Amino acid sequence: MDKLFLQDVLEGLSSQPKTLKSKYFYDDKGSQIFQQIMQLDSYYLTNCEFEIFQDQAAGIINKLNFNEPFNLIELGAGDGVKTSELIRYMLSKNIEFTYTPIDISSKANQILEDKLRADFPTLDIQPRTGDYFKILKELNNTNKPALLLFIGSNLGNYMPEGAQNLVALLSKYLKTNDKLLIGVDLKKNPLIVSKAYFDPEGVTKAFNINLLNRINNELGGNFNLDKFDFYSFYNPQNGEVRSYIISLEKQKVNIGSTHEFKFEKGEDIWTELSKKYDLSELDKLIEREKFELVHHFLDSRSYFTDSLYIKK
Ligand code: AVJ
Repeated sequence: MDKLFLQDVLEGLSSQPKTLKSKYFYDDKGSQIFQQIMQLDSYYLTNCEFEIFQDQAAGIINKLNFNEPFNLIELGAGDGVKTSELIRYMLSKNIEFTYTPIDISSKANQILEDKLRADFPTLDIQPRTGDYFKILKELNNTNKPALLLFIGSNLGNYMPEGAQNLVALLSKYLKTNDKLLIGVDLKKNPLIVSKAYFDPEGVTKAFNINLLNRINNELGGNFNLDKFDFYSFYNPQNGEVRSYIISLEKQKVNIGSTHEFKFEKGEDIWTELSKKYDLSELDKLIEREKFELVHHFLDSRSYFTDSLYIKK
């Protein structure tokens, strides 16, 4: 049993209001449901970022201004579909680079490596499995310039202080003139944002309810999945989408034989923050940590940005 998972769940369900951390969505089933979310018409984020990589690879590479072989490092590459567009462009231009995807899951890394080796036989790929920051620190012991990719709007899951701390750590493990390309979802018509996180198909609901199922399976919980629903709310004033699991009745839930949690009818468990930025807010956050903006690469609808910064 995963001790940290148990500890976080017990702490979150003991809090008032109750919370569960979104990083625990991604067991095998949860990762599969997230793949389904990315297929939804309403979940525009993936398509927007893919469009940026597909149409603007040349622009991104141009702005790097590296005149020697470099390391393309990626945090949590997932299926690699977006990064493949950048890789395809660079190989076609005979640009010399090593691709170093970092993931906490060795299985995810293996699948990615097999796929990219099949698609790009000449690609120099050296996946690393483990803690992001431990590996970034190790990779920092070289003279090779680095382009660090942190895409997919993963920054959005962090509260302001957490986001600032994360960017500070990225900065700490980059050298002067290294680059950071960060993919972030932007503020837009609230109806478009709301629909992406509260889809009529109920896939995002399944994504959330799967976390209760995971607690049942891995931590000996007895959540009755039918007695919980899902709700998501976008606040355009602060750009925050907040997602919740809602108890449909007054009920008690056990985790193992020693922990019991009481739920009121209608009580919420906050599960996720998916924050939307505007460009100046993003620049302020990143430039506070010894970075300087090079260029914002936006999709054709200006829904999403992949923003390039240089480490000072
Ligand atoms: C993978 C964190 C970018 O917040 O948009 C999708 C996860 N949650 N639908 C996001 C998610 C609900 C996603 N990120």
